[in-house]
Amino acid sequence: MRNFDYKNPTKILFGKGEIAKLKTEIPEGSKVLMLYGGGSIKKNGIYDQVQKALAGFDCVEFGGIPPNPEYAVLMDALKVIKEENIDYLLAVGGGSVIDGTKFLSSAALYEGDEPWEILDKKIPTLKGMPFGTVLTLPATGSEMNSGAVITRADIKEKRVMGGSGLFPQFSILDPSVVASIPERQIANGLADAYTHVMEQYMTFPIEANLQDRFAESIMQTLIEVAPKIMKDPSNYTDAANFMWSCTMALNGLIQKGVPTDWAIHMMGHELTALYGIDHARTLAIIAGPHYKYSFEKKKEKLAQYAERVWDIREGSVENKAHAGIQKTIDFFHSIGIKTQLSEYTTDFEGTSAEVAKRLKEKGMIALGEHGAITPADAEKIVEMSY
Ligand code: NZQ
Ligand code: ZN
Repeated sequence: MRNFDYKNPTKILFGKGEIAKLKTEIPEGSKVLMLYGGGSIKKNGIYDQVQKALAGFDCVEFGGIPPNPEYAVLMDALKVIKEENIDYLLAVGGGSVIDGTKFLSSAALYEGDEPWEILDKKIPTLKGMPFGTVLTLPATGSEMNSGAVITRADIKEKRVMGGSGLFPQFSILDPSVVASIPERQIANGLADAYTHVMEQYMTFPIEANLQDRFAESIMQTLIEVAPKIMKDPSNYTDAANFMWSCTMALNGLIQKGVPTDWAIHMMGHELTALYGIDHARTLAIIAGPHYKYSFEKKKEKLAQYAERVWDIREGSVENKAHAGIQKTIDFFHSIGIKTQLSEYTTDFEGTSAEVAKRLKEKGMIALGEHGAITPADAEKIVEMSY
């Protein structure tokens, strides 16, 4: 096992009715900016619950953060933070609202002229404006990690940022919120969380036994809950298992002491930047081709995965590893997610070269757990996804 540091300062308040505890989590006397998305919270009662809990606070709102949080919109929110002397942020939403809030947490204290530099120059945020979250969509794990992904439509860019200053102070996870999530977003949440686990697991064996079993158990739980939560998102027990699995998939725990990949995400982000394909779906497009392309380097872990997660006991390491890849693709299909780029856009010719070019421009020339995926390799992988 590799050496590691582990600190996750985010307090989790999990369960039915926990939104009411907002009032005790936000420091008294704070001037709060409540941030949300396109308005789903106004239809499902979350907005009212939050408003009630914030009754004693001086609070301003900013709605309209779109999926794939857009830089231009966030810059409008930044103006509100400055004009209103905001000192506490509250994100009420899914990954996009939470990530947008993380950007604002960083940008609010940034001393340079142009906050885009935080993303462009990869400046880590060691201190941000304090913020909490009310999660409305299990998927990204953003509610308990310190990363964010921000989109800039004018230059078709989707960039990552992060730093130890960007953990939420608290996150409220009430599984009741899952009841109103449309099927497409439930499927996205399942696929995103599942791929998060794979990115931290499907590398090479280093006998980190507990991390392996944590990862396998999250995947097993997601597989088990997937058909049930797709069918009935209002089942609280299933929603609770779904929600906690998504958080645990990317709160840092399972990646400690082990190699991680993340190449699927880096290629996937380019597909969202180019075509606006939902984040989770880009992962489903790239995962199969990536594992096939990197088969020799990953086959031991693929075989272990096939055996322990999918109960494939027969055959050689290679046979099991191939079966593991197929099971993964079948899993995406089982939740209604298509896995070929051409099923999302007819305009796919030339995508692989474009992705390779973009990765190169950003200095992403050595992806994966071995740093062996060059832009030329990415080009071949994306081409396999057509
Ligand atoms: O905007 P509203 O009206 O609220 O509707 C949202 C949005 O349209 C809707 N929704 C959310 N909660 C709902 C609901 N609808 C009904 N009932 C509810 N309870 O769902 C839609 C999608 O929301 P979004 O926040 O965009 O989804 P998700 O949580 O999947 O976030 C995706 C973003 O997170 C980034 C992705 O790249 C993408 O930009 N990621 C962030 C990560 C992180 N910070 O750690 C890691 C991930 O790998 C990912 O890259
Ligand atoms: Zn993801």
